[in-house]
Amino acid sequence: MPILEKVPHKTVSTEEESGLPKLPVPPLQQTLATYLQCMRHLVPEEQFRKSQAVVQRFSTPGGLGETLQQKLLERREKTANWVSEYWLNDMYLNNRLALPVNSSPAVIFPQQHFQDTNDQLRFAASLISGVLSYKALLDSHSIPLDCAKGQLSGQSLCMKQYYGLFSSYRLPGHTQDMLVAQKSSVMPEPEHIIVACCNQFFVLDVVINFRRLNEGDLFTQLRKIVKMASNEDERLPPIGLLTSDGRSEWAEARTVLVKDSTNRDSLDMIERCICLVCLDAPGDGDLSDTNRALQLLHGGGCSKNGANRWYDKSLQFVVGRDGTCGVVCEHSPFDGIVLVQCMEHLLKHMMKSSKKLVRADSVSELPAPRRLRWKCSPEIQGHLASSAENLQRIVKNLDFTVYKFDGYGKTFIKKQKCSPDAFIQVALQLTFYRLHRKLVPTYESASLRRFREGRVDNIRSATAEALAFVRAMTDHTTSMSASEKLQLLKVAIQAQTEYTVMAITGMAIDNHLLALRELAQELCKEPPEMFTDETYLMSNQFLLSTSQVPTTMEMFCCYGPVVPSGYGACYNPQPETILFCISSFRDCKETSSTSFAAAVGASLTDMQGLCGTAQVAESKPLVTKEKAIRPSQGHQS
Ligand code: COA
Repeated sequence: MPILEKVPHKTVSTEEESGLPKLPVPPLQQTLATYLQCMRHLVPEEQFRKSQAVVQRFSTPGGLGETLQQKLLERREKTANWVSEYWLNDMYLNNRLALPVNSSPAVIFPQQHFQDTNDQLRFAASLISGVLSYKALLDSHSIPLDCAKGQLSGQSLCMKQYYGLFSSYRLPGHTQDMLVAQKSSVMPEPEHIIVACCNQFFVLDVVINFRRLNEGDLFTQLRKIVKMASNEDERLPPIGLLTSDGRSEWAEARTVLVKDSTNRDSLDMIERCICLVCLDAPGDGDLSDTNRALQLLHGGGCSKNGANRWYDKSLQFVVGRDGTCGVVCEHSPFDGIVLVQCMEHLLKHMMKSSKKLVRADSVSELPAPRRLRWKCSPEIQGHLASSAENLQRIVKNLDFTVYKFDGYGKTFIKKQKCSPDAFIQVALQLTFYRLHRKLVPTYESASLRRFREGRVDNIRSATAEALAFVRAMTDHTTSMSASEKLQLLKVAIQAQTEYTVMAITGMAIDNHLLALRELAQELCKEPPEMFTDETYLMSNQFLLSTSQVPTTMEMFCCYGPVVPSGYGACYNPQPETILFCISSFRDCKETSSTSFAAAVGASLTDMQGLCGTAQVAESKPLVTKEKAIRPSQGHQS
């Protein structure tokens, strides 16, 4: 019997982390003041005044705000991280939307050139072998500790997320999902991978008789799977489709599914696997970055590879016959940076092993991989039909483009003595303003891994300083000179950099407000006005959801928007280029990913032009304390 055991995700803790500080709780008045500062210029004046009064009542001495803050300080003492559980539920487990596009990001590997199916399977075997060696490093706690780079570099980072890469599974629930983790073992226990091929699922044991299979063995086993999958008489319904549906819909279908013992066994095998490997059929269209990313994000719907997936599992490696490869991730156990670290390790492993040509071992005595069986009642057939329709809607609705800006990259920005990340964020604000004539609450993920069990908080990039800059750039009636605009740009970058430092040192406002809200729910009969106020609700609608996911190898990350009328903007700054993956929904008439991509290119070019102005007037300091142009506190509407 397998020794793996399901344990609640939150109990796992690693020894390495004990030296890390706990996440601080910011002072209440500081958070409330920052909140008002972040929202003032984004809402009408009258609304802002009302919200200001709401905040004032919340923060009166001895009032509700202080009571909640006190509770939070007590919670900080009792837990490893005061926000982890609240954040996980709010960000992921309570969200009822389908995982593809709405929640699960993808990493796209370089295009592969497979001459035949054997080439495809060799690649898959090498990938699995890399996964096994990486997992062995994790199981023996031999992964080197990460250190912070960029702003405030050098500090050790929390490694906990790595231990969730292969051990996590997201169980669907009717109102809330559950993230479960398997206990890992240093001993070579029976372990398996699930291989998806032609919408069928196969159990590929990777440790047999206490021996880990080598690449040749894995290749042999994969060939057997492809042969079994090609037998059309044996094909079973595409059950994986259910996992692409809304979480409550999938939970309902699963309750029906588990009534049958065959289904229960099959589910159990999937829920305990290390990861999935999806052997995909060729996708649609050319093999552009955009089309390959779409294959990873949603698989092209049920008529293509959309059912050749199991979205609950944290890592699904896709190895397509047309050379489209990458990974789709269930996001709740780890963030993009940890994911990319793992993927870079795997690709390096594969580059080393690709020198040896792996052959099938014809005398292999290995037992054949096993097809998972499903008993499909008419009720399940009904669920499958509706899941297929819902996935089709997701596929049709996604407006997505990959855009490589090749005017310049990090090197140029650093030469301007600016933070590249802050510079790009200001460019994104300019882009949004150009297209929509307003700024909106923006999310930029900031890593909190400097703290015990830290995940992320939010850098609210739509600052008043950014608004002043983008107005100056788009107001063609102004007589403002280029060097004055440049001053505004530098001030906006400075504000963005300061917010970044505040966020990565645990002083941002989103996690804090979330925790106060959750504590209020436990304490108060009615939700307090602070958290039902129009401005607060609006502050959590991220029409621009951004994230820097840099890579050192040829690969890129992408994801979908988080609200129906929003954009997702994932960027990967390189020394001489910047790659953007822009997503939005076709249902929304106001947004367009291609327009956004074109506008971001124009924004970056214009900002470079302004910097050129500086070189002309080189002798003058760009920003002095006395002369820095500060934005007015004006509202935009
Ligand atoms: N002048 C010259 N160089 C500068 C500079 C300046 N004023 N400011 C920064 N730089 C340099 C940095 O030293 C760094 O150098 P390096 O390339 O040698 O490391 C480089 O520019 C990049 O720094 P910067 O652009 O400021 O950003 P960062 O790397 O510190 O990243 C965040 C900022 C917010 C993106 C980062 O802290 C973070 O939190 N990343 C995680 C994001 C995440 O979680 N994504 C996945 C979500 S699922």
